[in-house]
Amino acid sequence: MAMNYSHAFHAGNFADIVKHAALLALLGRLQADPAPLAVIDTHGGRGLYDLDAPEARRSAEAERGIARLLEDPAPPEAVGRLKAAALAASQAAGGRRYPGSPLLVAQRLRPQDRLTTFEFNPREAEVLKASLAGARAVSVETADGYDGAVRSLPPEGQALVLIDPPFERGDDYDRCIATLQAITRRCPGAAIMIWLPIKDLETFDAFVRRAEEIRPVRIAEVRLRPLLDPMRMNGCALVLAAAPEGLDLDLAAICEWTASRLGEGGRARLWGSA
Ligand SMILES: C[S@@+](CC[C@H](N)C(=O)[O-])C[C@H]1O[C@@H](n2cnc3c(N)ncnc32)[C@H](O)[C@@H]1O
Repeated sequence: MAMNYSHAFHAGNFADIVKHAALLALLGRLQADPAPLAVIDTHGGRGLYDLDAPEARRSAEAERGIARLLEDPAPPEAVGRLKAAALAASQAAGGRRYPGSPLLVAQRLRPQDRLTTFEFNPREAEVLKASLAGARAVSVETADGYDGAVRSLPPEGQALVLIDPPFERGDDYDRCIATLQAITRRCPGAAIMIWLPIKDLETFDAFVRRAEEIRPVRIAEVRLRPLLDPMRMNGCALVLAAAPEGLDLDLAAICEWTASRLGEGGRARLWGSA
């Protein structure tokens, strides 16, 4: 397992903005339906990140990401929700903080909803439990999130699965595909969002082709810059299945804002079916 990855270096970067703004939009649209919603977050991370910690300062990724969103006086609504969440997390802590996916979800659960999140690294899992202390209807498991997601699918009601691996290990791509397949078999109506880095086109295209063999997917893509250097994260994408009606509007606004405000000759694209 990828025990060395620490999201503390990357929290609040452009990719987090795309992923987390899309997550908030997905939640909002699914919660328009009163049926209970079970959210499963396969790779939980820490839940709350200190942007003044040495890791964040060293990488300065948040300075090129969330810091720029905080400076935007009038972002589109779908991005503005994340700005508000980051401001609230900082105000509550009395310092610069950035909320991760499990915290964003935990704060938005209705009485009928629940969150199950997995974090394989025991040290990160302890921090995650502390970040979520006091949250209702939330369970944190120090376990593998791919297997955990499939066994946590609810027998009825709505489900949303976020799959957000570090992609440090070669098998993360294979395991995402296997999990997409297993969820599709067990719970075809579950909304699924897989986050992917874009370094080179070959890896990305191969993944999308394999996903499309399983079911129709919609892709929200942001490229910060032309893909000239395959060693850099030049962009990111969200691969979505069973996305709720209207989500495209949010995704378009989120990807456009990120490509134009945080990119250098960046571009945004929504494509695929679903
Ligand atoms: C990209 S971070 C997650 C960030 C989080 N989803 C967020 O948006 O705030 C990936 C996390 O997955 C953990 N991890 C790696 N492999 C895992 C696995 N197989 N199951 C569960 N967690 C895993 C890593 O320790 C790391 O904390």
